[in-house]
Amino acid sequence: MWRIPLRNLIFDNWRIALLVVCLVARLTGQSYSQNPRWTIGMSQCNLGEPWRVQMNADIKKAAEAHPEIRVVFKDAQNDALRQGAHIDEFVRAGVSLIIVSPKEAAPLTRPVQEAHQKGIPVIVLDRRVLGDQYTCFIGADNRKIGRAAGRWIAATTGGKGNVVELKGLMTSTPGQDRHRGFREGIEGLELKVVFEADMKWLEPNARKEMESALTRFGDIAVVYAHNDPGAHGAWVAARAAGREKSMLFVGIDALPHEGQMYVRQGILAASFEYPTGGAEAVQTALEILNGKTVPREVVLPSRVYTQKNVNTGGELVH
Ligand code: FRU
Repeated sequence: MWRIPLRNLIFDNWRIALLVVCLVARLTGQSYSQNPRWTIGMSQCNLGEPWRVQMNADIKKAAEAHPEIRVVFKDAQNDALRQGAHIDEFVRAGVSLIIVSPKEAAPLTRPVQEAHQKGIPVIVLDRRVLGDQYTCFIGADNRKIGRAAGRWIAATTGGKGNVVELKGLMTSTPGQDRHRGFREGIEGLELKVVFEADMKWLEPNARKEMESALTRFGDIAVVYAHNDPGAHGAWVAARAAGREKSMLFVGIDALPHEGQMYVRQGILAASFEYPTGGAEAVQTALEILNGKTVPREVVLPSRVYTQKNVNTGGELVH
């Protein structure tokens, strides 16, 4: 009788199975995602802050719905020179488009400009660069948010009292705009900024600065911090001094698991949302790659969360 050795049978079937898997993958389009049509280089200034982790997650999620694109992420670890080098690297690698969330305006202007001049579309996300050598800027209006924070604080305190302002990195545009807007919001009132410091967006710095403010001023009514980690750092310092109940803490970002949670816990009196723009960046990237004209600026809306409205979705900032 004619018999096939068992070893051959297993070996041949295994090869056939592999062939079938490859064919199915090709037919269902999986091979397409391994070979996307476009590569997007995403340069993130740091991943040490929850807000930036959220931005990358938003980009990743939005991109996953589009097998024609692949996003390569780079983290500059809060080093502007390294971030510039990442952008240069994307240019050399010939990516189809760059998304950049710059650490600071001035040092990132040259790399963005060069990429743009070489014909690579560049979407600048959240913090700006100088000049106009990029394709599109996406972000919320930081001056408006700062002004709204000022007005909210004015209304809540009756327009009186000593204020501590803990500023974001002042070489980055959101820091500059949140400062300017805030001062406009409290102009002409008896709210007096008695202490201001650049905490560079970082909670440990905010805590240290607040410790100095607490030693110098016995009567602080409000802490306005340019982001929620800053406001939280200030609260931690005030609590250590037993003074957290005598003042209000206001921050910006309002991530559900950070600022909104602090409001719910009674730590912050208010947090103003600063949307990451990650999903909008992917959508705009796709439009650019598909040859559509996109606006030079996409302004994202913001919501304010307070103890009154945090459980009902906050309110739109006007
Ligand atoms: C994160 C962050 C946010 C802030 C944004 C401003 O790095 O500091 O907290 O809203 O950057 O660019």
